[in-house]
Amino acid sequence: METTHRVVVDDARSLSALEDDSVDLVVTSPPYPMIEMWDDLFTTLEPAIGDALEAGDGQAAFDAMHAELEAVWDELERVVVDGGIVCLNVGDATRSLDDSFRVYPNHARVLEAFEARGFDPLPDVLWRKPTNSAAKFMGSGMIPPNAYVTLEHEYILIFRNGGDSRQFEPGADRRYEAAYFWEERNRWFSDVWTDVQGELQDLDLDLEDAADLRERSAAYPLEIPYRLCCMYSAYGDTVLDPFWGTGTTTLAAMCTGRNSVGYELESAFLEAFDESVADIPALSQSVGQARLARHKEFVSQRRDEGSDLEYDAEHYETAVVTKMERQIQFREVTAVDPLEGGAHHGEQAYRATHEPLSLE
Ligand SMILES: C[S@@+](CC[C@H](N)C(=O)[O-])C[C@H]1O[C@@H](n2cnc3c(N)ncnc32)[C@H](O)[C@@H]1O
Repeated sequence: METTHRVVVDDARSLSALEDDSVDLVVTSPPYPMIEMWDDLFTTLEPAIGDALEAGDGQAAFDAMHAELEAVWDELERVVVDGGIVCLNVGDATRSLDDSFRVYPNHARVLEAFEARGFDPLPDVLWRKPTNSAAKFMGSGMIPPNAYVTLEHEYILIFRNGGDSRQFEPGADRRYEAAYFWEERNRWFSDVWTDVQGELQDLDLDLEDAADLRERSAAYPLEIPYRLCCMYSAYGDTVLDPFWGTGTTTLAAMCTGRNSVGYELESAFLEAFDESVADIPALSQSVGQARLARHKEFVSQRRDEGSDLEYDAEHYETAVVTKMERQIQFREVTAVDPLEGGAHHGEQAYRATHEPLSLE
């Protein structure tokens, strides 16, 4: 099986390289309005934003920043198939402007904007990174009432394009082989994720070379797009990230056997991605093997507790809890090649070759 992965260096406010109804899933994290690290970028997109910030008019700046993001949401409505899913990672912002401190509720603004465009909101996920810093609290220390709660969670907002779910032909292999394990379902479909730095943490270290760039782009952990691709798409689907950054979504799409498209304003990110493409086969293999090893641990624990598992997986020597898991088949990437001829100007494209996961 082969998948293709395109990255377009351009402004996602017009996704003109994409046809209508050509995307099955969006997984993305936009620049967060009112977080200072993105002020310059938003001001480049709309100079009035810089003026509002300078004048200390936080509400005007917040509104204008969301207007720039909304141009991208308009495009998502066009390119996402009916019933396709959008998963959008966003955090709220706290900020003092003109000596006045407040929260800017990005998640609420994004939710309203998607509803207004005909997307149905689905139950969302909160995730947080564990932090132990004692110095993180803001406001007046131990004396009431003017201290503020510290924001430590982010949202993964989830929308469906239109009222109906996607349909597949009955028994579609590319859907059943992309099944996840019962115990993964229980963790992944929980509405609070406290373990995102968990199972793939070590694998993220493979990307250490790009650590600086990842910080500058506020990259999310690989585990987030990886889970979302597994949860909301099937093998061979196309996943879009209109705010591509260091390309974590593309890595996840490659590791999960999905096609991908990314849009990114800064070409430097693409050059860095080009250099790390060679690591992808090893990464995809270890991700699949780690999931399988974790499942086998789960099975032996269940047996130790006296439960018998009723079904056997068809492709692996392991039991599974439900009939739906029997066809699970992980795929690893065996090669990633640049597609020289296939890419248009300002665009890079790759072809990934996938084989069933090898167990050695
Ligand atoms: C929060 S970062 C995304 C990080 C990404 N999820 C990762 O893991 O690396 C947002 C990215 O969107 C890009 N960006 C912002 N506005 C854009 C636009 N209008 N079109 C394309 N890219 C944009 C920024 O340059 C930045 O790299």
